[in-house]
Amino acid sequence: MKIVLIPGDGIGPEIAESVKNISQAMKLDIDWVTFQAGAEYAQTTKEVFEPGLVEAIKKYKWALKGPTATPIGTGFRSVNVALRQQFDTYANVRPIRSFQGIDSKYENIDLVIIRENTEDLYKGIEYMVNENMANGVKLITREASEKICHYAFEYARINHRHKVTAIHKANIMKLTDGLFLEAFRSVAKNYPDIEAQEVIVDNMCMQLVLRPETFDVLVAPNLYGDIVSDLCAGLIGGLGFAPSGNIGDDYRIYEAVHGSAPDIAKKNIANPSALLLAFALMLEDLGMPNEAQHLRNALASVVEEGKNVTLDIGGTASTTEFTQAIIEKL
Ligand code: NAI
Repeated sequence: MKIVLIPGDGIGPEIAESVKNISQAMKLDIDWVTFQAGAEYAQTTKEVFEPGLVEAIKKYKWALKGPTATPIGTGFRSVNVALRQQFDTYANVRPIRSFQGIDSKYENIDLVIIRENTEDLYKGIEYMVNENMANGVKLITREASEKICHYAFEYARINHRHKVTAIHKANIMKLTDGLFLEAFRSVAKNYPDIEAQEVIVDNMCMQLVLRPETFDVLVAPNLYGDIVSDLCAGLIGGLGFAPSGNIGDDYRIYEAVHGSAPDIAKKNIANPSALLLAFALMLEDLGMPNEAQHLRNALASVVEEGKNVTLDIGGTASTTEFTQAIIEKL
């Protein structure tokens, strides 16, 4: 099958190469269709996407994306925002699982954060009221809230999970977060087999640090989802092993949670793990759970041995050597 690959900026091409080599070594029936996008591409062409990228995603539906840098102070749009809008990937799914061999304060963490991906303060509606006052609009709709809550409960049911927790601040934002909560309650009624819990966002942050094992699937409006998911990545030792999927009804774009790491780009020292785990997430959704687990096991075993890992997790191996060690395990 054909899958669109966007290597992206900075370390993107190096970690995308790792995914390509591993999918080849696993003899998967995947034919990568590669397109450039991001700030580096825009520097020479004045366009953020290579022509044909949007059409290719429309045609092949599934894409794996490396990190892309968003230039500050120029007219270029963020590639991520543009893709999310173009393909209405309304659910940002971020599984957070403890990884063997990685130092972290907690063990056996297994949570999934489902973040609304299209509205809230990220809609970008902000303006200056006068030179000393700026206003930003927190836009929440019933339609998008019901859609994301429905996605979260369906996800819980399909993945044999038992509880969905809505994150909100409806005690203060009675209309916007109130509407989100109303949508959550009305959707929850259709899932009597799954426990529905509501937690105010500040308390949620504390509970996650004190008792992360009591949570299962979390669903949140865009901004809380963004912040809480980084907190959760901290529970498993940081962003190095955090994949995500941008999921819509028709299209799916998978990526690492981290950025383009310009400070270590083009040195062949980047850790490819998060993009590899995003690839594993994609394989699982493509109906290849055994292949996904096989890849995770090989990665975990290299990380646990610690001999052939990159600098950020205490090793001296290059991206290529790390990749080769995973291929040997596979
Ligand atoms: P970053 O995640 O790129 O880097 C933060 C720190 O983590 C740096 O020290 C970097 O070297 C390290 N790091 C990140 N990924 C690594 C990896 N795979 N292996 C080893 N070390 C790694 O965040 P930063 O610096 O805030 O953003 C850089 C650029 O990335 C910005 O232009 C930003 O807009 C973009 N970005 C893109 C994202 C995406 O495309 N999904 C997400 C986040 C940021």
